[in-house]
Amino acid sequence: MELSVARKKKITDASFHVLLNNRRVTDGHQYTQPSPSTYPYQWLWDSCFHAIALSHFSPEDAKKELRSAVSQQFENGMLPHMIYWEPGTLVDIQWGREGKKRTSTITQPPLIAEAVWRIFEKDGDAAFLAEMYPALSSFYEYLLTARDPRGNHLAGIINPDESGEDNSPRFDDVLGLPPVQTLQENFKSRLKLVEELRNGHFDAPFMKQYFWVKDVPFNAILVENLVVLGRIAGHLSKHEDALKFTEASRRVADAMRERMFDGDLFWPTYSESYFKVKLKTWAIFAPLYAGILSEDEAAKLVEEHLLNPSEFLSNFMLPTVAMNERTFDPQGFWRGPVWFASNWFVYRGLLRYDYQNIADRLLENSMELLEKSGFREYYHPDTGAGLGAHDFTWGALVVDMIGRNSRG
Ligand code: GLC
Repeated sequence: MELSVARKKKITDASFHVLLNNRRVTDGHQYTQPSPSTYPYQWLWDSCFHAIALSHFSPEDAKKELRSAVSQQFENGMLPHMIYWEPGTLVDIQWGREGKKRTSTITQPPLIAEAVWRIFEKDGDAAFLAEMYPALSSFYEYLLTARDPRGNHLAGIINPDESGEDNSPRFDDVLGLPPVQTLQENFKSRLKLVEELRNGHFDAPFMKQYFWVKDVPFNAILVENLVVLGRIAGHLSKHEDALKFTEASRRVADAMRERMFDGDLFWPTYSESYFKVKLKTWAIFAPLYAGILSEDEAAKLVEEHLLNPSEFLSNFMLPTVAMNERTFDPQGFWRGPVWFASNWFVYRGLLRYDYQNIADRLLENSMELLEKSGFREYYHPDTGAGLGAHDFTWGALVVDMIGRNSRG
C-alpha cells in the first residue's frame, strides 16, 4: 500500500495535536483525556492506546501516561478503569471508593503489558521495564486469581464496562435487556451492577450471581499480554516469572478453545454451564490478535465473516456488530459503528496472519474516516459520518497502524 508522505504527515501531525491538546497534569500525574468535553478523566485501556500512539512521538510522554495509569493500583493488584483526577462534567458514579484520589472499582482490558513493551521497543529503556514490573505482575496475577476463583483459566468480567464496550449487544442477555433498548435502560442496568459490587464490598467473585462473563476480547488480550509479560520478566532475568506467565497464557488460550469455540467461532460465555452468546460482533476477530487460530480457521473467519458484505464488509470497515444481526444499529453506542480500538486489534490480527491486502483496506478506511470526519469517538459504517464525542484520541492509533505496515 503506497501512502504518500504528505498524507501520512497530515494524519500524524493531527494525531499528535489531539494527544497534546488533551494532555493534562494533576499533582505531577500526566495523562490524556480521551475527549476533554465528554471524557475528562483517565481511563485504563485508553491510556494504553495513548501510550502506544505516543511511543511513536515521545516515549517519555508515553511512560508518564502509564505511570499515572498504575499510580492508583488497588492493594489486590486491580488497576481501576477510571481515575477522576479532577472534578469533571461526566455523570459522577459513586463507585464507593472515597479518598484523596477517586477511582472506579472495576477494571478494563489488560493491554498494559503490550503498551509498556512497545515503549521499550522504541527506546530500549530497561529501567522503565523494571519500574513498571511490580504493578504489571500484580495486575495480571489479580486477573488470574480473583477473576478465576474456580481455576478454570478464563478471566471473568463483572460489568460490561470492563470489556471497554459498555453497551455491546454481547451483554444484553446477561443483563436481561431486549435487543432494541434505550441508552438509559442500558446505563441503569450497569449502574445496578456497581451498586451490587458495593454491597459485596468490592469482592469480584461476589458478582457471579449478577454478572460474570468470560468475554472473548478480554481473554484474547490477556493471552497475548501474558506472553508479553513473560518476555518482560525474561528481560529482567526473572526466569521463573517468565515461565509462569508464558504458561498461564497457554492455559487461557486452551481454555478459550475448550469453552468458547463452537461452529468455527469463539463466543463469550456465562454461567457455570458456559452458556455461549452466539451473536456476531467484532469480538469474533479478537482471537486473530492473540494468534490462537490455526491458518485454516483464520482463513475461514476472514472469508466467511470479515469479507462478507452482509456481515462485516461495510463501506467503512469495521462495523462493531455484524450488519445482519437484529441488534445492529449503525449509530448505536458499541452496537454497530466503527471504533478505532476494534480496528486496531483486527488490523494487528490480520498482519499476524499475513492478510496484508485486507489489513491495507482496513488502514485505508481508517485514514479516510479521519480525513472525512476528524477525530470522533465512533463512525457510521456506511457513510463514514463522525458520531459521539469530539476531539477523541483513539484515531491516533492510526499512527501505530501506519508504523506497523511494512508497505506503509
Ligand atoms: C466509553 C467507552 C470506553 C472508554 C471510555 C473513555 O465509556 O465505551 O471503552 O474507555 O468511553 O474513552
